[in-house]
Amino acid sequence: MVAGALALLPAGETIRFLDPAFGTGAFLSALLGLVPAGQVAGLAGFEIDAHYGEPARELWRGSRLDLTLGDFTRAEVPCPGPPNFSTQPNLPVQPNLIICNPPYVRHHHLEPADKRRLQALGERVAGVRLSGLAGLYAYFMLLAHGWAAPGAIAAWLVPAEFMDVNYGAGLRRYLAERVTILRLHRFHPVDVQFGDALVTSAVLWWRHAPPPAGHCVRFTSGGSIAAPRLSERVPAERLRLAPKWRCGAFSPEAEAESGTESESGATLGDLFEIKRGVATGDNRFFILNEAKIAQLGLPFECFQPILPGPRGLGPEVLEIRADAEGLPQLDNRLYLLDCRLPMPDLAERYPALGRYLDSGVPAVSERYLCRHRTPWYAQDRRAPPPLLCTYMGRGAAPFRFLRNYSRAIAPNVYLLLYPKADLAADPALIDRLWRGLNSMGAAGLIAAGRVYGGGLHKLEPGELKRLPLKGVLAASPCCSA
Ligand SMILES: C[S@@+](CC[C@H](N)C(=O)[O-])C[C@H]1O[C@@H](n2cnc3c(N)ncnc32)[C@H](O)[C@@H]1O
Repeated sequence: MVAGALALLPAGETIRFLDPAFGTGAFLSALLGLVPAGQVAGLAGFEIDAHYGEPARELWRGSRLDLTLGDFTRAEVPCPGPPNFSTQPNLPVQPNLIICNPPYVRHHHLEPADKRRLQALGERVAGVRLSGLAGLYAYFMLLAHGWAAPGAIAAWLVPAEFMDVNYGAGLRRYLAERVTILRLHRFHPVDVQFGDALVTSAVLWWRHAPPPAGHCVRFTSGGSIAAPRLSERVPAERLRLAPKWRCGAFSPEAEAESGTESESGATLGDLFEIKRGVATGDNRFFILNEAKIAQLGLPFECFQPILPGPRGLGPEVLEIRADAEGLPQLDNRLYLLDCRLPMPDLAERYPALGRYLDSGVPAVSERYLCRHRTPWYAQDRRAPPPLLCTYMGRGAAPFRFLRNYSRAIAPNVYLLLYPKADLAADPALIDRLWRGLNSMGAAGLIAAGRVYGGGLHKLEPGELKRLPLKGVLAASPCCSA
């Protein structure tokens, strides 16, 4: 964060640093590790909590740090507004580098009178009135506007929620209109930056100047700040008008998909593609066990392992282990017949298989799904899913999530969860999510799905996609620790 901000300042510029939520000074420490002492003209910080402020004073004794033990939001603002750049004085005390991870105090922990004071002050300083639902961090960002020297660079580590929710509209407008956002990075929803704050975080860097005509913001997400998974350049004008800020969300397809996300935060669909398992057209004909394949003399290379349905697995099974060849460690292993060779070639190469398929004409070949395939015995392609959900069931715990380490695919009595992008390369994280899904309690899952007469609960792929991630992560043994 700090290195990114320094790279945005003119080379060699004398630095006047401010951290309005200083804590013990992680950002100052980073700064002093990156620039020679002679380049620093001033260091300032605010810390309201003596528990951090006193040790911080001790820690930084002998440095030129001017640390105020007090409330940043009550300090006299150098330029209290209106936020008009042309009339702002360039006072020597004004910081040209602001780096901050402001407090994540939610709005319902702000006293009503304090909230009104902050709303009025924010509006005076930054020209935007925030919704009463905005958290304290949003006011820190607005008030810092009145501190920054013209052209100053700021870097903020904040909850990403303001990018999606309606009550973030004021802060988005401020950022899009009053300063020049240079880069915005959104961390992956499960990559929480702080153990004690279960929020998706974002870092944004801005320059204290109105956005120049045609300005584009570098918008990144996932991975790390140095190596993000997604990156795009978004015209500032589009950000100004967009109802939500999401990397990759500025294409028409993504905008259509964003309808699946809840207002309040990330969902399972942010992490996984969710598909139905394979609909074979006739399980009894296409799915065979090892003994049957051997008995009929069929070629094993035309089959792929497939999991039995939840009943065939047994009610206790939550995990499918694999042997050295990746086959599921199950007593009665099943295989799906899947060969796309046209019949004459197939019959010539595998005569026994040709005879077997002939035995399915017309009883199987004329079934609805088979009739609509070419050749009629071809199957839909699916990769082995690392996570599956039994999406129909009765009773108090109707759904089960299975972790699959084998290369078996699964039939359509399951929903298959395929991790997106960088989650795919993180099996430990998939394990955590799997545990969370199985421990979160049935109520959330039942509420997400539908119930039929007789008490049959069901979850459609779209419903599972909309499942809020918060409950899953909170239930995951590692995440809640
Ligand atoms: C998220 S932490 C930042 C930690 C900091 N970056 C560090 O290196 O320790 C936010 C800090 O802001 C402080 N804080 C909360 N409200 C404040 C306020 N109104 N004025 C100044 N500091 C405040 C908290 O006590 C906490 O230390």
